[in-house]
Amino acid sequence: MPAESTRYFVRFRLYHRILHIMVIVSFLGLALTGMSLKFSGQDWGVWLSWVMGGPMASRFLHRLFAVVTFLYFGLHVLWIIRSWIKDGFKKTFWGPDSIMPQFIDIKQMFQNVKYFLGKGPQPKFDKYTYWEKFDYFAVFWGVAIIGSTGLVLWFPVLFAHFLPGILINAAVIVHSDEALLAVGFIFTIHFFNTHLRPEKFPMDKVIFTGRVTEEELKNERPAEYERLVASGRLEKIETTEAKHWVYTAARIGGFTAVTIGLILVIMIIYALIAG
Ligand code: HEM
Repeated sequence: MPAESTRYFVRFRLYHRILHIMVIVSFLGLALTGMSLKFSGQDWGVWLSWVMGGPMASRFLHRLFAVVTFLYFGLHVLWIIRSWIKDGFKKTFWGPDSIMPQFIDIKQMFQNVKYFLGKGPQPKFDKYTYWEKFDYFAVFWGVAIIGSTGLVLWFPVLFAHFLPGILINAAVIVHSDEALLAVGFIFTIHFFNTHLRPEKFPMDKVIFTGRVTEEELKNERPAEYERLVASGRLEKIETTEAKHWVYTAARIGGFTAVTIGLILVIMIIYALIAG
């Protein structure tokens, strides 16, 4: 429980928090509806499809969540363009405040492995760690690959006007297998990195509250903390504690998402082993 005198700082603005909630809801929806189609030969696939109102309802919901995906993706691209115009190309696409992967990330990745092996200190992370940048770009290429192939499956007649038929068959395989990879990655590695690692267990609520405490900022992102202090910007991002209901909603929403995700992964592994 944070002490009375705890100081809070903004990490994520409302805009990004809303977009991330759209990511969670749509991804869970796409994974559940998609996997019920992919594993329709399994009892649990049939059950899942039945829970969602049957195959036709699942197909409709899949397309609905796909629209949400394209919407948040478009809104995020608009945000990048806005930052580019407001802060300039260099600040948006390079430097410690940018989420672009940079040389320091490779260096810190090796340093972190050494730290895990007890052979050196933990790297001094800045605003975004190398694994956070990886997760961010995973969504970019995921939406590009799964989204484009999904559109081919949605509008096969339209795409058949200019794509050879074989590519439409290939789109089914790429969509299905990349979806499996995305589900496996998000529901294990992303969940572990953000919620289940010892420093954060059982859950990191920052994406819902948008705030970190001074202690978290200092310990987890020391390079960012030092930069903020040195530039006098720390006070500018100071805020108050999030409302009680936000923590409650974060706990309920977060646990629901993690539980659904982990159960889905277990069922997929079971299906792949059982054949
Ligand atoms: C974001 C844009 C997406 C679009 C436009 C899209 C579209 C589609 C369409 C049209 C189908 C065929 C469904 C049918 O038979 O009626 C499909 C199947 C499927 N989708 Fe998506 N989808 C998207 C994202 C995703 C995501 C993010 C996942 C999983 C994480 C996913 C998983 C699947 C799976 C597993 C299937 C079944 C493939 C099979 O039969 O093997 N989709 N998708």
